[in-house]
Amino acid sequence: MLKLFGALVILGLALACITSWVLDSYDTAWHPKRSVQQPPAGDGDGSAGSSPPFPGGELDNIFWFIQVSDIHISRFHDPRRIPDFEKFCTDTIEVIKPALVLATGDLTDAKTESKVGSLQHEVEWQAYHNILKRSRVMERTRWIDIRGNHDAFNIISLDSINNYYRKYSANQKVGSFHYVHKTPFGNYSFVCVDATLTPGPKRPYNFFGILNQTQMDLLDTFRAESLKSNQSIWFGHYTTSTVVSPSPGVRDIMRSAVAYLCGHLHTLGGLMPVLHSRHPQGTLELELGDWMDNRRYRVLAFDHDLLSFSDLKFEQWPAVLITNPKDAQYLHPGREPLGRIRRSTHIRTRQAGRQ
Ligand SMILES: *[C@@H]1O[C@H](CO)[C@@H](O)[C@H](O)[C@H]1NC(C)=O
Ligand SMILES: *[C@@H]1O[C@H](CO)[C@@H](O)[C@H](O)[C@H]1NC(C)=O
Ligand SMILES: *[C@@H]1O[C@H](CO)[C@@H](O)[C@H](O)[C@H]1NC(C)=O
Ligand SMILES: [Zn+2]
Repeated sequence: MLKLFGALVILGLALACITSWVLDSYDTAWHPKRSVQQPPAGDGDGSAGSSPPFPGGELDNIFWFIQVSDIHISRFHDPRRIPDFEKFCTDTIEVIKPALVLATGDLTDAKTESKVGSLQHEVEWQAYHNILKRSRVMERTRWIDIRGNHDAFNIISLDSINNYYRKYSANQKVGSFHYVHKTPFGNYSFVCVDATLTPGPKRPYNFFGILNQTQMDLLDTFRAESLKSNQSIWFGHYTTSTVVSPSPGVRDIMRSAVAYLCGHLHTLGGLMPVLHSRHPQGTLELELGDWMDNRRYRVLAFDHDLLSFSDLKFEQWPAVLITNPKDAQYLHPGREPLGRIRRSTHIRTRQAGRQ
């Protein structure tokens, strides 16, 4: 009995340590003294981005996109999860009409029925694949789905027959990559950080992701390339607090991004419904709650190169996003042309609702 008690205390302490480490500081405040940012290119004169174009009354210089995370398609649990997700791919995407969708990992649940063990189930991947096909969502938007730790459980090598991500996802490509979204008014970089372990260990041994030096070097080339773009978004499955990487670390590598979008922690069992923070370098880290139990998704927009976003719940209409003036809590003075807000003439919102 005492032994069990001792074990529980140690387990409790370990959990507390992990939680405080993982959560280190969920605070989005801008700390100029800690910042090592340069002003955005072309604004070196300190005018803080007060050069045109300025937001006005037209629907111009704007595009919007969606993030959804931790879908956990499951053959055993929550029978509504699959049809709801299909409805999301048909109705929600049809109404919002995003330029692209980022599905940031844990596409499938890959657990045993008891929820204790892990196992890749081909039927879960087929269900995911069928939703993409039936909804024709890939014809209506650019669908970028990446791996999460659940998608890599029990995979011995990338060529394994049970590496279903390679067969059934839209992206199918393992590893980090750089995608440039081109518009007539600017180019926008989207850099994927794939810290998923290969080979994938069993549950629970991949709660942390790892980036080795080779992977960090690759990400650094993406960072350098992305400097040519108007803005960069980085995204991945893991929060940066759950990625182990060589010095100077993953947060430093993404310092030129206005924001890093991720999932993985869900809402910590409802304890932390909002996990938004800011890196010392200024980059916003925006964890998104899960689709699995909470049916969360996020709409983001670049409006005149200013980033805005809104965390929403499936089927709650209308979906509203105010793009100008953007939420002051999430300003990035080092990266965004904030002077444009002062010079703007209109409050700009995007609204979507069901007819
Ligand atoms: C994007 O960058 C180009 C080149 O610097 C610039 O001409 C253009 O105005 C920028 N787009 C927006 C929306 O600010
Ligand atoms: C976007 O990138 C292309 C090269 O890939 C370049 O030709 C174009 O001028 C860029 N557009 C803007 C608005 O900067
Ligand atoms: C780094 O990780 C990648 C992907 O897991 C692997 O292919 C590569 O061999 C690793 N490189 C080193 C030097 O460990
Ligand atoms: Zn998850």
